[in-house]
Amino acid sequence: MRMRVLGIETSADDTGIALIEAEGKFGPDFKFKILANGVSSQKIHAEYGGIYPNLAKREHGRNLPLVLEKVLKESSGTTKDMPPADVIAVTYGPGLEPCLWTGITFAQELSKKWNVPIVPVNHMEGHILISMMENGRIADFEFPAIALLISGGHTELIHMKEFGTYKYIGRTRDDAVGEAFDKVARLLGFPYPGGPYISQLANDTQQCDEATPHRIHLPRPMIHENNFDFSFAGLKTAVLRLVEKHQPLSEEMKKTIAREFEDAVTDVLVYKTLRAVEECGASTVIMGGGVSANKHIRNELNQKLRAVGCQLLVCPPELSTDNGLMIALAGYFHALKKEFTDLASLKADGNLSIASLSK
Ligand code: KG4
Ligand code: ZN
Repeated sequence: MRMRVLGIETSADDTGIALIEAEGKFGPDFKFKILANGVSSQKIHAEYGGIYPNLAKREHGRNLPLVLEKVLKESSGTTKDMPPADVIAVTYGPGLEPCLWTGITFAQELSKKWNVPIVPVNHMEGHILISMMENGRIADFEFPAIALLISGGHTELIHMKEFGTYKYIGRTRDDAVGEAFDKVARLLGFPYPGGPYISQLANDTQQCDEATPHRIHLPRPMIHENNFDFSFAGLKTAVLRLVEKHQPLSEEMKKTIAREFEDAVTDVLVYKTLRAVEECGASTVIMGGGVSANKHIRNELNQKLRAVGCQLLVCPPELSTDNGLMIALAGYFHALKKEFTDLASLKADGNLSIASLSK
């Protein structure tokens, strides 16, 4: 039976709404079509170097009706007399609670208006699920898998024995990797979110690597420790020292720092993920979250995993950052199991853990 799911995402600074039509259980029979996918990324945080939850909340409140209107206009087959979706999926955590609440309240209003149920979605599961998809179906891969989630708020390695089971095996002890990208970008004079700027600068120097050997060295934090945890706060401090030492910063030095920072982060992520693959006997790595848009991290991880016969699943870069599509997809599988919530008890949970989804 076909199901239309409207996904709503407001956990950080992106207001995302998507409408999908999906059918089939998790497996080869599953397929879905994107009817519309709208995201409005808030520009207001650029100058502050990070997200201000109350500003973000206000922006979500303004954007949600506009993005919904656009999505409904774009999606074919929706009429005024019929609810456009059979189910509403909404992110209830993890994330910034004031922001999560705007999405939840909006979902509750739509649910009453259209008389359709709500299924609550874990944001991180959304990142994992969207990376599992290929051409409207589930990619051909095998469990056990390791999920590497790298975003502005999270850096996690998760062991998935099968679909729907999640066991943390490692995480950051301080800053998330996206946060480190954003802080380093700020030190180099770029607006928030800075990950794409660092990535671009670093990429500019990739080609001339041999001609311009690294003149600086940054640490690879915790790379040789016998665990799967990460730490990126020290790396940011090391960049701060470099920036202070090389004042005024030349454009050349900015590129060199961006390149060495990206290399340091990539080395740690790749090394620890490979060790997790080995220890868990994983056949697949599923990479998700905004930082997985990074070309260098994708290429390096893919190359190293191939060498050990492990497959990398990752979504197109434009879907790596937050969006409603990933929430609609995750919501669909929970809706199949009729995991609907009663409206009044739906609450935001900023620290929601993905392990709580495991049976
Ligand atoms: O998943 P996401 O959209 O939001 C959270 O759930 O946190 O991730 C946003 C993060 C930001 O820190 C942003 O700088 C980073 O993803 N990011 C990147 C790239 N594109 C986005 N970091 C490195 N390289 C990129 N190309
Ligand atoms: Zn995210």
